[in-house]
Amino acid sequence: MSEHSDSDATRRDFLYIATGAAGAAAVGGIVWPLVSQMGPNAQEIAAGVPIEVNIGDIEEGRVITVTWRRKKYFIRHLTAAEVDAAKTKEQGDFRDFVTAADRITGPEGGEAVWSVYGANCTHLGCIPTEVKENGDTWRCACHGSRFDVIGRVTKGPAPVNLPQPPMVFASEDTLIIGTDKVGA
Ligand code: FES
Repeated sequence: MSEHSDSDATRRDFLYIATGAAGAAAVGGIVWPLVSQMGPNAQEIAAGVPIEVNIGDIEEGRVITVTWRRKKYFIRHLTAAEVDAAKTKEQGDFRDFVTAADRITGPEGGEAVWSVYGANCTHLGCIPTEVKENGDTWRCACHGSRFDVIGRVTKGPAPVNLPQPPMVFASEDTLIIGTDKVGA
């Protein structure tokens, strides 16, 4: 299991479920999840309480968008080909290089086929759209930055990769964003 830390997000007052792909409207391959009516109040959301996401219905090659701390994040279920492509890229392909292993994760004992990262371009915050061309997966229409399938910037002016939130898998089908500890 891969875990990611963020000292700002250790408090977990309440969880709410962002149900995944099922029944949600798809826009350009992006599925916007429904948020449970049992969710936290505005104060709790502003405090950045973790969100629990059902990823069991997200098919390979699909991405959903969830909101945590009032920012959107992409949760991408990678295909085997996408994992391979991400792993074969070289340092020279990127301006903020990290290995694919740093950005591909999965549940303990399960497949590492998930990549989760911020949906706001690291230049001025626009939301990139999916393009899948020339080895890139995301293009920011505002000033032309490009990102690969796991959110690494390939062309500027975005200075750094799309940021990964703290997260942990509670089970094969459940991803918690906002903490790196189950039950925290
Ligand atoms: S906001 Fe994305 S490139 Fe400027």
